[in-house]
Amino acid sequence: MEISIGMQGLMLILFIQRMQAEASVLFKPSFISDWYPATALNESLSLLIIDHNLREYPVKVDVQVKINEGGKDYIFSGLGSSQRDDDFPGRFGGVIYKYNDQHTQLSFPYERNHFYGSSGLAYTGSDGLYHGSTHILGPYVNGYVRTRVWLASDMSNIVLNTSLYMDNIQNYREISHGLGYYPDLLNVQTLLSNGYMSDGIGVVFISETDFGYNTLAGVLFGYDDTKVRLWVPSNFSTYYKAGGVFAAKDGYKLGYYMEGVVNILAWNIECSQQVFHKTITVGDNIIHDDVIQFPCPYDLSNYLISIQFKAPESETPNGGMLFNAAGTTQAKNGSMYGGIVYAYSENEVMIWRPVNGPVIYIGDRWGNGESKQTSYTADVIIRVYHLPLAECSYPETVGNGTLNVTGVIYGDNITYTCNLGYHHGGGDLFRTCGRDRQWSGIIPACI
Ligand SMILES: *[C@@H]1O[C@H](CO)[C@@H](O)[C@H](O)[C@H]1NC(C)=O
Ligand SMILES: *[C@@H]1O[C@H](CO)[C@@H](O)[C@H](O)[C@H]1NC(C)=O
Ligand SMILES: *[C@@H]1O[C@H](CO)[C@@H](O)[C@H](O)[C@H]1NC(C)=O
Ligand SMILES: *[C@@H]1O[C@H](CO)[C@@H](O)[C@H](O)[C@H]1NC(C)=O
Ligand SMILES: *[C@@H]1O[C@H](CO)[C@@H](O)[C@H](O)[C@H]1NC(C)=O
Ligand SMILES: *[C@@H]1O[C@H](CO)[C@@H](O)[C@H](O)[C@H]1NC(C)=O
Ligand SMILES: *[C@@H]1O[C@H](CO)[C@@H](O)[C@H](O)[C@H]1NC(C)=O
Repeated sequence: MEISIGMQGLMLILFIQRMQAEASVLFKPSFISDWYPATALNESLSLLIIDHNLREYPVKVDVQVKINEGGKDYIFSGLGSSQRDDDFPGRFGGVIYKYNDQHTQLSFPYERNHFYGSSGLAYTGSDGLYHGSTHILGPYVNGYVRTRVWLASDMSNIVLNTSLYMDNIQNYREISHGLGYYPDLLNVQTLLSNGYMSDGIGVVFISETDFGYNTLAGVLFGYDDTKVRLWVPSNFSTYYKAGGVFAAKDGYKLGYYMEGVVNILAWNIECSQQVFHKTITVGDNIIHDDVIQFPCPYDLSNYLISIQFKAPESETPNGGMLFNAAGTTQAKNGSMYGGIVYAYSENEVMIWRPVNGPVIYIGDRWGNGESKQTSYTADVIIRVYHLPLAECSYPETVGNGTLNVTGVIYGDNITYTCNLGYHHGGGDLFRTCGRDRQWSGIIPACI
Protein backbone atom coordinates (compact mmCIF):
# COMPACT_ATOMS: atom_id res chain seq x y z
CA MET A 1 0.00 0.00 0.00
CA GLU A 2 1.27 3.40 -0.87
CA ILE A 3 0.71 6.31 1.48
CA SER A 4 1.07 9.78 0.10
CA ILE A 5 1.02 12.98 2.10
CA GLY A 6 0.84 16.34 0.42
CA MET A 7 3.15 19.19 1.26
CA GLN A 8 0.54 20.67 3.60
CA GLY A 9 0.18 17.37 5.44
CA LEU A 10 3.93 17.12 5.80
CA MET A 11 4.14 20.65 7.12
CA LEU A 12 1.32 19.91 9.55
CA ILE A 13 3.19 16.84 10.80
CA LEU A 14 6.39 18.86 11.19
CA PHE A 15 4.44 21.58 12.98
CA ILE A 16 2.82 19.12 15.38
CA GLN A 17 6.19 17.50 16.05
CA ARG A 18 7.71 20.88 16.79
CA MET A 19 4.85 21.81 19.11
CA GLN A 20 5.17 18.53 20.99
CA ALA A 21 8.92 18.81 21.19
CA GLU A 22 8.53 22.17 22.84
CA ALA A 23 5.75 21.22 25.22
CA SER A 24 6.65 21.00 28.87
CA VAL A 25 5.12 18.93 31.61
CA LEU A 26 4.19 21.38 34.34
CA PHE A 27 4.69 19.29 37.45
CA LYS A 28 3.40 19.91 40.93
CA PRO A 29 5.56 22.65 42.45
CA SER A 30 8.74 21.75 44.36
CA PHE A 31 7.30 23.50 47.39
CA ILE A 32 3.79 24.10 48.73
CA SER A 33 3.74 25.88 52.07
CA ASP A 34 1.29 25.49 54.92
CA TRP A 35 -1.54 28.01 55.20
CA TYR A 36 -0.55 30.95 57.42
CA PRO A 37 -3.00 33.37 59.05
CA ALA A 38 -2.89 36.80 57.37
CA THR A 39 -4.19 40.06 58.82
CA ALA A 40 -4.35 43.50 57.22
CA LEU A 41 -4.43 46.84 59.08
CA ASN A 42 -1.92 45.83 61.72
CA GLU A 43 1.63 47.06 61.22
CA SER A 44 3.22 44.39 63.39
CA LEU A 45 1.57 41.66 61.29
CA SER A 46 2.19 43.22 57.89
CA LEU A 47 5.31 41.25 56.93
CA LEU A 48 5.27 37.46 56.62
CA ILE A 49 8.25 35.43 55.43
CA ILE A 50 7.58 31.93 54.14
CA ASP A 51 10.74 29.83 53.76
CA HIS A 52 10.95 27.40 50.89
CA ASN A 53 14.67 26.65 51.45
CA LEU A 54 15.18 25.47 47.87
CA ARG A 55 18.49 27.37 47.40
CA GLU A 56 17.49 28.19 43.85
CA TYR A 57 15.48 31.06 42.37
CA PRO A 58 11.97 29.94 41.47
CA VAL A 59 10.76 30.30 37.87
CA LYS A 60 7.20 30.71 39.09
CA VAL A 61 5.56 31.60 42.40
CA ASP A 62 1.82 31.45 43.10
CA VAL A 63 0.63 33.27 46.23
CA GLN A 64 -2.84 32.01 47.19
CA VAL A 65 -4.95 34.19 49.50
CA LYS A 66 -7.81 32.26 51.12
CA ILE A 67 -10.86 34.19 52.25
CA ASN A 68 -13.97 32.76 53.84
CA GLU A 69 -17.23 34.36 52.76
CA GLY A 70 -20.62 32.91 53.68
CA GLY A 71 -19.01 29.72 54.93
CA LYS A 72 -17.16 29.08 51.66
CA ASP A 73 -13.46 29.47 50.87
CA TYR A 74 -12.39 31.59 47.90
CA ILE A 75 -8.87 32.01 46.61
CA PHE A 76 -7.56 35.37 45.52
CA SER A 77 -3.99 35.80 44.27
CA GLY A 78 -1.03 37.88 45.40
CA LEU A 79 0.22 40.82 43.32
CA GLY A 80 3.80 41.32 42.12
CA SER A 81 3.87 45.06 42.89
CA SER A 82 1.55 47.57 44.51
CA GLN A 83 0.11 50.58 42.73
CA ARG A 84 -1.21 52.08 45.97
CA ASP A 85 0.24 53.58 49.07
CA ASP A 86 -1.56 55.01 52.05
CA ASP A 87 -1.62 58.49 50.56
CA PHE A 88 -4.77 57.63 48.58
CA PRO A 89 -8.09 57.30 50.35
CA GLY A 90 -10.58 54.66 49.22
CA ARG A 91 -10.90 50.93 49.54
CA PHE A 92 -8.53 48.48 47.93
CA GLY A 93 -6.88 45.13 48.56
CA GLY A 94 -3.71 43.25 47.87
CA VAL A 95 -1.11 40.88 49.25
CA ILE A 96 2.18 41.99 47.67
CA TYR A 97 5.12 39.60 47.44
CA LYS A 98 8.70 39.21 46.28
CA TYR A 99 11.03 36.25 46.59
CA ASN A 100 14.58 34.96 46.45
CA ASP A 101 16.26 31.54 46.48
CA GLN A 102 15.28 30.90 50.12
CA HIS A 103 11.91 32.44 50.86
CA THR A 104 8.96 34.58 49.79
CA GLN A 105 8.22 37.85 51.58
CA LEU A 106 4.54 38.78 51.73
CA SER A 107 3.16 42.09 52.92
CA PHE A 108 -0.40 42.97 53.96
CA PRO A 109 -1.56 46.60 53.87
CA TYR A 110 -1.62 48.61 57.07
CA GLU A 111 -2.30 52.22 57.99
CA ARG A 112 0.94 54.13 58.17
CA ASN A 113 0.43 57.87 58.16
CA HIS A 114 -2.58 58.83 56.07
CA PHE A 115 -6.15 58.11 55.05
CA TYR A 116 -6.24 54.34 55.12
CA GLY A 117 -8.37 52.14 57.32
CA SER A 118 -10.09 50.82 54.21
CA SER A 119 -7.68 48.27 52.79
CA GLY A 120 -7.43 44.52 53.05
CA LEU A 121 -5.97 41.33 51.64
CA ALA A 122 -8.34 41.34 48.66
CA TYR A 123 -11.10 43.53 47.26
CA THR A 124 -13.30 43.06 44.20
CA GLY A 125 -14.76 46.57 43.89
CA SER A 126 -18.19 45.04 43.19
CA ASP A 127 -19.90 47.98 44.95
CA GLY A 128 -19.51 50.21 41.91
CA LEU A 129 -15.97 50.01 40.55
CA TYR A 130 -16.31 46.55 39.01
CA HIS A 131 -19.20 44.50 37.66
CA GLY A 132 -19.53 40.94 38.97
CA SER A 133 -20.82 38.96 41.94
CA THR A 134 -21.73 41.44 44.65
CA HIS A 135 -21.69 39.02 47.58
CA ILE A 136 -17.90 38.88 47.41
CA LEU A 137 -16.56 42.36 47.99
CA GLY A 138 -14.02 42.94 50.75
CA PRO A 139 -11.67 44.54 51.52
CA TYR A 140 -11.07 41.35 53.51
CA VAL A 141 -8.97 41.99 56.60
CA ASN A 142 -8.48 38.39 57.74
CA GLY A 143 -7.62 35.28 55.79
CA TYR A 144 -4.90 32.75 55.14
CA VAL A 145 -2.01 32.74 52.67
CA ARG A 146 0.33 30.16 51.24
CA THR A 147 2.94 29.96 48.49
CA ARG A 148 3.49 27.46 45.71
CA VAL A 149 7.01 27.54 44.27
CA TRP A 150 8.13 26.02 40.97
CA LEU A 151 11.79 25.51 40.05
CA ALA A 152 13.11 25.26 36.49
CA SER A 153 13.20 21.46 36.89
CA ASP A 154 9.43 21.44 37.59
CA MET A 155 8.81 22.73 34.08
CA SER A 156 11.48 21.62 31.63
CA ASN A 157 11.56 22.64 27.95
CA ILE A 158 11.53 26.39 28.37
CA VAL A 159 10.80 28.03 24.99
CA LEU A 160 11.83 31.59 25.84
CA ASN A 161 14.44 32.94 28.24
CA THR A 162 15.60 36.48 27.71
CA SER A 163 16.32 39.51 29.85
CA LEU A 164 16.50 43.27 29.53
CA TYR A 165 16.96 46.32 31.73
CA MET A 166 14.11 48.65 32.71
CA ASP A 167 13.71 51.63 34.97
CA ASN A 168 11.57 54.75 35.31
CA ILE A 169 13.25 56.34 32.26
CA GLN A 170 13.55 53.21 30.06
CA ASN A 171 9.91 52.60 30.79
CA TYR A 172 8.70 50.89 27.59
CA ARG A 173 10.24 47.89 25.84
CA GLU A 174 9.16 45.50 23.12
CA ILE A 175 10.93 42.26 22.28
CA SER A 176 10.23 39.86 19.42
CA HIS A 177 10.18 36.31 20.70
CA GLY A 178 9.90 34.71 17.27
CA LEU A 179 7.89 31.68 18.48
CA GLY A 180 5.04 32.09 16.00
CA TYR A 181 2.47 31.03 18.61
CA TYR A 182 1.17 32.17 22.00
CA PRO A 183 3.08 30.35 24.74
CA ASP A 184 0.69 28.95 27.40
CA LEU A 185 2.62 30.42 30.27
CA LEU A 186 4.79 33.53 30.18
CA ASN A 187 6.37 34.84 33.37
CA VAL A 188 8.05 38.20 33.82
CA GLN A 189 10.37 38.42 36.83
CA THR A 190 12.30 41.53 37.76
CA LEU A 191 15.54 41.08 39.66
CA LEU A 192 15.83 43.99 42.07
CA SER A 193 19.11 45.40 43.38
CA ASN A 194 18.71 43.63 46.74
CA GLY A 195 18.61 40.19 45.08
CA TYR A 196 14.83 39.73 45.34
CA MET A 197 12.62 39.01 42.36
CA SER A 198 9.24 40.55 41.75
CA ASP A 199 6.58 39.28 39.33
CA GLY A 200 5.19 41.32 36.45
CA ILE A 201 1.50 42.25 36.42
CA GLY A 202 -1.27 42.46 33.83
CA VAL A 203 -3.51 45.28 35.04
CA VAL A 204 -3.28 49.07 35.35
CA PHE A 205 -5.25 50.15 38.45
CA ILE A 206 -3.89 53.67 38.57
CA SER A 207 -2.85 55.58 35.48
CA GLU A 208 -1.15 58.51 37.09
CA THR A 209 -0.49 59.95 40.51
CA ASP A 210 -0.63 63.47 41.80
CA PHE A 211 2.50 65.36 42.51
CA GLY A 212 4.26 63.87 45.52
CA TYR A 213 2.09 60.76 45.73
CA ASN A 214 4.72 58.89 43.92
CA THR A 215 4.82 55.18 44.67
CA LEU A 216 3.12 54.04 41.46
CA ALA A 217 5.39 51.24 40.21
CA GLY A 218 5.42 47.81 38.62
CA VAL A 219 6.23 45.97 35.40
CA LEU A 220 3.10 45.57 33.26
CA PHE A 221 3.34 43.07 30.42
CA GLY A 222 1.34 41.64 27.56
CA TYR A 223 2.23 39.25 24.75
CA ASP A 224 1.06 37.70 21.53
CA ASP A 225 2.46 35.16 19.07
CA THR A 226 5.38 37.35 18.02
CA LYS A 227 6.26 39.78 20.79
CA VAL A 228 6.22 40.81 24.43
CA ARG A 229 5.59 44.42 25.49
CA LEU A 230 6.53 45.83 28.87
CA TRP A 231 5.50 49.09 30.53
CA VAL A 232 6.82 50.71 33.72
CA PRO A 233 5.50 53.97 35.27
CA SER A 234 7.64 56.90 34.20
CA ASN A 235 9.61 59.31 36.30
CA PHE A 236 7.30 62.33 36.11
CA SER A 237 8.76 64.55 38.75
CA THR A 238 11.89 66.63 38.62
CA TYR A 239 11.82 66.88 42.41
CA TYR A 240 10.93 63.40 43.58
CA LYS A 241 12.07 59.95 42.55
CA ALA A 242 9.03 58.48 40.85
CA GLY A 243 7.90 55.47 38.83
CA GLY A 244 9.97 52.34 38.49
CA VAL A 245 9.71 48.57 38.60
CA PHE A 246 8.51 47.76 42.11
CA ALA A 247 6.84 49.40 45.08
CA ALA A 248 5.14 48.19 48.21
CA LYS A 249 5.83 50.85 50.79
CA ASP A 250 4.06 53.49 52.83
CA GLY A 251 1.45 51.04 54.05
CA TYR A 252 3.35 47.93 52.93
CA LYS A 253 6.76 46.68 54.02
CA LEU A 254 8.62 45.60 50.89
CA GLY A 255 10.27 48.83 49.75
CA TYR A 256 10.65 50.74 46.49
CA TYR A 257 12.91 50.03 43.49
CA MET A 258 13.24 52.15 40.37
CA GLU A 259 15.28 49.72 38.27
CA GLY A 260 15.81 46.05 37.64
CA VAL A 261 16.73 43.32 35.18
CA VAL A 262 13.54 41.92 33.72
CA ASN A 263 13.60 38.21 32.84
CA ILE A 264 11.03 36.88 30.41
CA LEU A 265 10.41 33.12 30.57
CA ALA A 266 7.85 31.11 28.61
CA TRP A 267 6.61 27.54 28.32
CA ASN A 268 4.09 25.49 26.41
CA ILE A 269 2.22 23.18 28.69
CA GLU A 270 1.53 19.61 27.64
CA CYS A 271 -1.89 19.67 26.00
CA SER A 272 -3.25 16.77 28.03
CA GLN A 273 -2.71 18.74 31.25
CA GLN A 274 -5.24 21.36 30.21
CA VAL A 275 -8.44 20.03 31.76
CA PHE A 276 -10.62 23.12 31.37
CA HIS A 277 -10.70 25.93 28.81
CA LYS A 278 -13.35 28.56 28.33
CA THR A 279 -13.38 31.97 26.65
CA ILE A 280 -16.03 34.60 27.33
CA THR A 281 -16.32 38.06 25.85
CA VAL A 282 -16.92 40.83 28.39
CA GLY A 283 -17.93 44.49 28.15
CA ASP A 284 -20.63 46.87 29.34
CA ASN A 285 -23.16 46.05 26.64
CA ILE A 286 -22.52 42.33 26.56
CA ILE A 287 -24.45 39.85 28.66
CA HIS A 288 -21.94 37.44 30.13
CA ASP A 289 -21.39 35.11 33.08
CA ASP A 290 -19.63 36.38 36.19
CA VAL A 291 -19.39 32.90 37.68
CA ILE A 292 -18.04 30.05 35.60
CA GLN A 293 -18.70 26.59 37.06
CA PHE A 294 -16.11 23.85 36.72
CA PRO A 295 -17.43 20.48 35.49
CA CYS A 296 -15.92 18.83 38.61
CA PRO A 297 -13.96 20.15 41.60
CA TYR A 298 -10.29 21.03 41.04
CA ASP A 299 -8.49 20.85 44.38
CA LEU A 300 -6.23 23.72 45.39
CA SER A 301 -2.94 21.78 45.34
CA ASN A 302 -2.98 19.68 42.19
CA TYR A 303 -4.25 22.31 39.73
CA LEU A 304 -3.14 25.69 38.42
CA ILE A 305 -5.78 28.24 37.41
CA SER A 306 -4.86 30.70 34.65
CA ILE A 307 -7.05 33.75 33.95
CA GLN A 308 -6.01 36.04 31.12
CA PHE A 309 -7.75 38.62 28.99
CA LYS A 310 -7.14 39.42 25.36
CA ALA A 311 -7.41 42.82 23.71
CA PRO A 312 -9.76 42.85 20.68
CA GLU A 313 -7.82 41.85 17.54
CA SER A 314 -9.02 44.87 15.59
CA GLU A 315 -8.02 47.51 18.13
CA THR A 316 -4.55 48.99 17.98
CA PRO A 317 -1.83 49.02 19.06
CA ASN A 318 -2.11 45.98 21.38
CA GLY A 319 -4.84 44.07 19.51
CA GLY A 320 -4.69 40.33 20.19
CA MET A 321 -2.29 40.70 23.12
CA LEU A 322 -2.84 38.70 26.29
CA PHE A 323 -2.63 40.14 29.79
CA ASN A 324 -2.84 38.39 33.16
CA ALA A 325 -5.91 39.06 35.28
CA ALA A 326 -5.40 40.18 38.89
CA GLY A 327 -6.38 38.49 42.14
CA THR A 328 -7.63 41.74 43.73
CA THR A 329 -8.20 45.32 42.67
CA GLN A 330 -6.22 48.36 43.72
CA ALA A 331 -8.13 50.69 41.41
CA LYS A 332 -8.52 54.24 42.59
CA ASN A 333 -11.91 55.81 42.00
CA GLY A 334 -11.22 58.90 39.89
CA SER A 335 -8.24 57.48 38.01
CA MET A 336 -8.40 55.53 34.77
CA TYR A 337 -8.17 51.79 35.35
CA GLY A 338 -8.89 48.53 33.57
CA GLY A 339 -8.39 44.82 33.86
CA ILE A 340 -10.10 41.70 35.02
CA VAL A 341 -10.21 40.72 38.69
CA TYR A 342 -10.76 37.07 39.62
CA ALA A 343 -11.19 34.66 42.50
CA TYR A 344 -11.78 30.93 42.44
CA SER A 345 -12.82 28.01 44.55
CA GLU A 346 -12.56 24.30 43.84
CA ASN A 347 -15.87 24.55 42.00
CA GLU A 348 -15.85 27.81 40.06
CA VAL A 349 -14.08 30.92 38.84
CA MET A 350 -15.58 34.36 39.46
CA ILE A 351 -14.63 37.37 37.36
CA TRP A 352 -15.14 41.11 37.70
CA ARG A 353 -14.71 43.77 34.98
CA PRO A 354 -14.70 47.57 35.24
CA VAL A 355 -18.14 49.22 35.34
CA ASN A 356 -18.67 51.69 32.48
CA GLY A 357 -14.98 51.57 31.82
CA PRO A 358 -12.38 50.06 29.58
CA VAL A 359 -11.42 46.44 30.17
CA ILE A 360 -8.07 47.16 28.54
CA TYR A 361 -6.51 50.30 29.85
CA ILE A 362 -2.86 51.18 29.39
CA GLY A 363 -1.73 54.74 29.47
CA ASP A 364 -0.59 57.89 31.10
CA ARG A 365 2.49 57.16 33.19
CA TRP A 366 2.75 53.50 32.13
CA GLY A 367 5.46 53.51 29.47
CA ASN A 368 5.06 57.28 29.45
CA GLY A 369 2.15 56.80 27.02
CA GLU A 370 3.89 54.42 24.56
CA SER A 371 1.51 51.89 22.96
CA LYS A 372 -1.34 53.25 25.04
CA GLN A 373 -4.74 51.67 24.64
CA THR A 374 -8.34 51.94 25.77
CA SER A 375 -10.70 49.09 24.77
CA TYR A 376 -14.18 48.47 26.13
CA THR A 377 -14.35 44.75 25.45
CA ALA A 378 -11.99 41.83 25.90
CA ASP A 379 -12.03 38.04 25.76
CA VAL A 380 -11.45 36.45 29.14
CA ILE A 381 -9.61 33.14 28.80
CA ILE A 382 -9.96 30.70 31.69
CA ARG A 383 -7.75 27.64 31.79
CA VAL A 384 -7.11 24.97 34.39
CA TYR A 385 -4.01 22.75 34.31
CA HIS A 386 -3.69 19.49 36.17
CA LEU A 387 -0.26 19.21 37.80
CA PRO A 388 1.14 15.68 37.84
CA LEU A 389 3.66 14.52 40.37
CA ALA A 390 7.08 13.87 38.81
CA GLU A 391 7.01 10.08 38.42
CA CYS A 392 9.72 7.69 37.22
CA SER A 393 9.06 4.50 35.30
CA TYR A 394 8.73 1.33 37.36
CA PRO A 395 12.31 -0.06 37.55
CA GLU A 396 13.38 -3.07 35.50
CA THR A 397 14.52 -6.17 37.36
CA VAL A 398 18.20 -7.01 37.34
CA GLY A 399 19.58 -10.47 36.56
CA ASN A 400 21.34 -12.25 39.47
CA GLY A 401 20.08 -9.63 41.88
CA THR A 402 17.03 -8.11 43.60
CA LEU A 403 15.83 -4.59 44.02
CA ASN A 404 14.03 -2.71 46.75
CA VAL A 405 12.17 0.44 45.67
CA THR A 406 10.58 2.98 48.04
CA GLY A 407 8.23 4.28 45.32
CA VAL A 408 8.34 5.86 41.88
CA ILE A 409 7.83 9.57 42.59
CA TYR A 410 10.45 12.29 42.92
CA GLY A 411 12.79 11.49 45.86
CA ASP A 412 12.16 7.75 45.89
CA ASN A 413 15.09 5.31 45.80
CA ILE A 414 15.97 1.92 44.37
CA THR A 415 18.49 -0.20 46.25
CA TYR A 416 19.84 -3.21 44.31
CA THR A 417 21.38 -6.23 46.01
CA CYS A 418 23.35 -8.88 44.13
CA ASN A 419 22.34 -12.45 44.87
CA LEU A 420 24.63 -14.60 46.98
CA GLY A 421 27.63 -15.68 44.90
CA TYR A 422 27.39 -12.72 42.48
CA HIS A 423 29.20 -9.45 42.78
CA HIS A 424 28.59 -5.91 41.61
CA GLY A 425 30.05 -5.54 38.13
CA GLY A 426 29.26 -1.94 37.10
CA GLY A 427 26.29 0.43 37.15
CA ASP A 428 24.71 1.87 40.29
CA LEU A 429 23.37 -0.06 43.29
CA PHE A 430 21.52 3.01 44.54
CA ARG A 431 19.39 5.21 42.27
CA THR A 432 17.08 8.14 43.03
CA CYS A 433 14.04 9.36 41.09
CA GLY A 434 14.73 12.93 39.88
CA ARG A 435 12.39 15.79 39.01
CA ASP A 436 13.13 15.03 35.37
CA ARG A 437 11.27 11.69 35.89
CA GLN A 438 14.52 9.78 35.34
CA TRP A 439 16.31 7.45 37.74
CA SER A 440 19.85 8.67 38.50
CA GLY A 441 22.80 6.59 37.29
CA ILE A 442 22.49 3.39 35.27
CA ILE A 443 21.14 -0.08 35.96
CA PRO A 444 23.74 -2.25 37.76
CA ALA A 445 25.09 -5.60 36.69
CA CYS A 446 25.56 -8.56 39.05
CA ILE A 447 28.10 -11.03 37.68
C1 LIG B 1 -1.64 43.72 66.09
O1 LIG B 1 -1.20 42.40 66.28
C2 LIG B 1 -0.53 42.16 67.50
C3 LIG B 1 0.05 40.76 67.48
O2 LIG B 1 -0.98 39.83 67.24
C4 LIG B 1 -1.50 42.40 68.66
O3 LIG B 1 -0.83 42.21 69.88
C5 LIG B 1 -2.03 43.82 68.57
O4 LIG B 1 -3.02 44.02 69.56
C6 LIG B 1 -2.62 44.09 67.20
N1 LIG B 1 -2.93 45.51 67.08
C7 LIG B 1 -4.12 45.93 66.76
C8 LIG B 1 -4.26 47.40 66.65
O5 LIG B 1 -5.06 45.18 66.55
C1 LIG C 1 -16.58 56.74 42.93
O1 LIG C 1 -16.64 58.14 42.95
C2 LIG C 1 -17.92 58.66 42.60
C3 LIG C 1 -17.80 60.16 42.51
O2 LIG C 1 -17.02 60.67 43.57
C4 LIG C 1 -18.95 58.21 43.65
O3 LIG C 1 -20.22 58.66 43.29
C5 LIG C 1 -18.95 56.67 43.68
O4 LIG C 1 -19.79 56.22 44.73
C6 LIG C 1 -17.58 56.14 43.94
N1 LIG C 1 -17.60 54.69 43.79
C7 LIG C 1 -16.98 53.86 44.62
C8 LIG C 1 -17.14 52.41 44.34
O5 LIG C 1 -16.30 54.22 45.55
C1 LIG D 1 17.86 31.58 31.49
O1 LIG D 1 19.12 31.96 30.96
C2 LIG D 1 20.06 32.34 31.96
C3 LIG D 1 21.28 32.90 31.28
O2 LIG D 1 21.56 32.25 30.11
C4 LIG D 1 20.39 31.11 32.79
O3 LIG D 1 21.32 31.43 33.78
C5 LIG D 1 19.10 30.63 33.45
O4 LIG D 1 19.33 29.44 34.18
C6 LIG D 1 18.03 30.36 32.40
N1 LIG D 1 16.77 30.11 33.09
C7 LIG D 1 16.01 29.05 32.85
C8 LIG D 1 14.76 28.92 33.65
O5 LIG D 1 16.27 28.21 32.01
C1 LIG E 1 13.85 61.65 37.62
O1 LIG E 1 13.98 61.78 39.01
C2 LIG E 1 15.22 62.30 39.47
C3 LIG E 1 15.21 62.28 40.96
O2 LIG E 1 15.55 61.01 41.37
C4 LIG E 1 15.41 63.69 38.90
O3 LIG E 1 16.68 64.16 39.32
C5 LIG E 1 15.35 63.62 37.40
O4 LIG E 1 15.43 64.90 36.86
C6 LIG E 1 14.09 62.97 36.92
N1 LIG E 1 14.16 62.73 35.49
C7 LIG E 1 13.22 63.08 34.65
C8 LIG E 1 13.44 62.74 33.22
O5 LIG E 1 12.21 63.66 34.99
C1 LIG F 1 13.39 -2.66 51.53
O1 LIG F 1 13.90 -1.55 52.26
C2 LIG F 1 13.14 -1.23 53.41
C3 LIG F 1 13.69 0.06 53.97
O2 LIG F 1 15.08 -0.02 54.09
C4 LIG F 1 13.20 -2.41 54.37
O3 LIG F 1 12.41 -2.12 55.51
C5 LIG F 1 12.67 -3.65 53.70
O4 LIG F 1 12.84 -4.76 54.54
C6 LIG F 1 13.42 -3.90 52.41
N1 LIG F 1 12.80 -5.01 51.71
C7 LIG F 1 13.48 -5.99 51.16
C8 LIG F 1 12.70 -7.06 50.46
O5 LIG F 1 14.71 -6.05 51.24
C1 LIG G 1 16.21 8.25 49.33
O1 LIG G 1 17.56 8.34 49.75
C2 LIG G 1 17.91 9.61 50.25
C3 LIG G 1 19.42 9.59 50.49
O2 LIG G 1 19.78 8.53 51.30
C4 LIG G 1 17.11 9.87 51.50
O3 LIG G 1 17.41 11.15 52.03
C5 LIG G 1 15.64 9.83 51.16
O4 LIG G 1 14.86 9.99 52.34
C6 LIG G 1 15.31 8.50 50.51
N1 LIG G 1 13.93 8.55 50.04
C7 LIG G 1 12.98 7.74 50.50
C8 LIG G 1 11.60 7.98 49.93
O5 LIG G 1 13.19 6.87 51.32
C1 LIG H 1 24.40 -13.40 35.83
O1 LIG H 1 25.64 -13.87 36.17
C2 LIG H 1 26.26 -14.68 35.18
C3 LIG H 1 27.53 -15.26 35.75
O2 LIG H 1 28.44 -14.22 36.12
C4 LIG H 1 26.50 -13.86 33.94
O3 LIG H 1 27.01 -14.67 32.89
C5 LIG H 1 25.18 -13.26 33.48
O4 LIG H 1 25.40 -12.38 32.39
C6 LIG H 1 24.53 -12.51 34.60
N1 LIG H 1 23.22 -12.06 34.16
C7 LIG H 1 22.94 -10.75 34.01
C8 LIG H 1 21.55 -10.45 33.50
O5 LIG H 1 23.74 -9.85 34.25
